[in-house]
Amino acid sequence: MVTEIAKGVYWVGVVDWGLRHFHGFELSTHRGSTYNAYVVKDKKTAVVDTVWGPFSDQFIENLREIVDPSTIDYVVANHAETDHSGSLPALMRLCPKAAVVVSPRGKDSIPGHYHDASGVHQQWNFKVVKTGEAISLGETQLVFVEAPMLHWPDSMFTYVAGRNLLLSNDAFGQHYATSMRFNDQVDRTELYEEAVKYYANILTPFSDLVLKKIDEVLALKLPVDMICPSHGVIWRSDPLQIVTAYQEWARQVPQKRAVIMYDTMWEGTRKMAEAIGAGFTKAGIPFKLFNMATSDRNDVVKEVFQAQAVLVGSPTVNRGPLATLMPVLEDLRGLRFKNKVGAAFGSYGWSGESVGLIEEHLKAAGIPLAAPGVKAMWQPTGADLAKCEALGAAVAEAMKKA
Ligand code: FEO
Repeated sequence: MVTEIAKGVYWVGVVDWGLRHFHGFELSTHRGSTYNAYVVKDKKTAVVDTVWGPFSDQFIENLREIVDPSTIDYVVANHAETDHSGSLPALMRLCPKAAVVVSPRGKDSIPGHYHDASGVHQQWNFKVVKTGEAISLGETQLVFVEAPMLHWPDSMFTYVAGRNLLLSNDAFGQHYATSMRFNDQVDRTELYEEAVKYYANILTPFSDLVLKKIDEVLALKLPVDMICPSHGVIWRSDPLQIVTAYQEWARQVPQKRAVIMYDTMWEGTRKMAEAIGAGFTKAGIPFKLFNMATSDRNDVVKEVFQAQAVLVGSPTVNRGPLATLMPVLEDLRGLRFKNKVGAAFGSYGWSGESVGLIEEHLKAAGIPLAAPGVKAMWQPTGADLAKCEALGAAVAEAMKKA
């Protein structure tokens, strides 16, 4: 349902209630998502972002409720990923003369995604804008701020001067399908679960840039009544709360807790994981334990992001860890979490390489080892489990000292 969020500014996006995976199958979205697009209607009319291609018809119907698409003057494409630009071709067929406003990097990425009938990049009427450039619509102005790596090199924010709205594209978003459009109308716990999961899985590698960009935008001293991301709800009530949260997340100061993740074949490595957990409990450090064969990888990544310690366990099969561990180890390498400590463990029958290989993965992810890993041959004995408990205690001690 089209919603007027401020005088002459409309949400014309779509709610994707059924979405359970995003970026192909790379990211789980248990609560669906939204693709937020906005119209600023003044003497001139601008559309800011579109929606994912499969929802083009619904998007165009929404637009028609408030504007004749042939009268649109500007189409701002803040970012090329197709969850935001996917309906550009459908829209541009209706307003072929409208200027397509893009960042300097967007001038490459947007046409790179869309080709004309002869198979070459679309040649829409592109207008390239840099940070600080503005377009007057009448009472309102669109002011552009390049935001590279939030989330792609082409990403850009659009500030609606005169209405005090920051249209922040991916930044400050959540994969969260809701019937209501504003943060004060939804469950706060759910909202923050999704916001932090989004940050941990998508934005963590760019944390230094997040801090710099926030400082840069705050220094402009623009009045901000709402922050309107391209996914999830609009931050209307205390809008800067999500900026403060991003500053905290970008600093990556972890909580004093641990994540133990493992997989197991005949329960030996599970028993080791639980014994490590007992070591944490005795040391007063809470932990969460995940079997990666049955846990959602992105949920676990969020937990690791918030925790100070990560322990990874696997038996050895074919001279290495079980394959179920590899995706999350690859995530940890790519996400480059800071301020963590790690350790490895696992049972084995013959050669026993998995612990050493997991340690190599942790080091490659920038996670120093708090203590040597623990290996147990066959089923762990009482002595082996005591070593595991001691490993939990040793990691807890390292956490307290950090
Ligand atoms: Fe929501 Fe980077 O796309």
